[in-house]
Amino acid sequence: MPGLSGHPTLRRLLCGGLAGGPRLCARPNSGCPSWTRERTLVAVKPDGVQRRLVGDVIQRFERRGFKLVGMKMLQVPESLLAEHYHELRRKPFYPALISYMSSGPVVAMVWEGPNVVCASRAMIGHTNSAEAAPGTIRGDFSIHISRNVIHASDSVEGAQREIQLWFQSSELVDWADEGHHGSAGPA
Ligand code: PPS
Repeated sequence: MPGLSGHPTLRRLLCGGLAGGPRLCARPNSGCPSWTRERTLVAVKPDGVQRRLVGDVIQRFERRGFKLVGMKMLQVPESLLAEHYHELRRKPFYPALISYMSSGPVVAMVWEGPNVVCASRAMIGHTNSAEAAPGTIRGDFSIHISRNVIHASDSVEGAQREIQLWFQSSELVDWADEGHHGSAGPA
């Protein structure tokens, strides 16, 4: 059904199902399961940077075993924000969202690993911080949706689009995972 997966709520429902479910596949000749490379965009928003939460966010993703393949700090140009939040342009909160996201630097990262899109959405917690579970990033550090500390792509397709929007391919590093730290990546 072309077009349907572009709807934000549907994308979220599909997370864990068709769009963002585990992407395991057989690795030829190895007898071991492997996974199709999955990446997602995670961005610590201006309030998260101001509150010195960048290190905590990185630590959570590293401890989980995900692999950091790109990272930069930037004052996000309004043109990039307009494209990133294009689907929300008619929402009443859109001007406040753009103003918030422009209020200071953002730390943008690309994380890689099995099922990283859905896993990172679970790690950051509900978009509305008031409903975010304790233990999630928003549940631990935020009480209001308008200052919810962090963004993570909500579907595999969305992640691909956002990574291309935020990063040049030359800014992403393909580094070998030697299997240290119990990472779930391919050995
Ligand atoms: S919607 O209306 O269902 O499409 O929106 P939602 O998916 O819940 O949120 C999409 C992004 O908009 C941000 N958002 C807000 N920002 C500021 N103020 C208000 N009131 C607000 N409501 C939603 C929300 O944090 C999402 O941004 P990201 O960057 O994806 O976290």
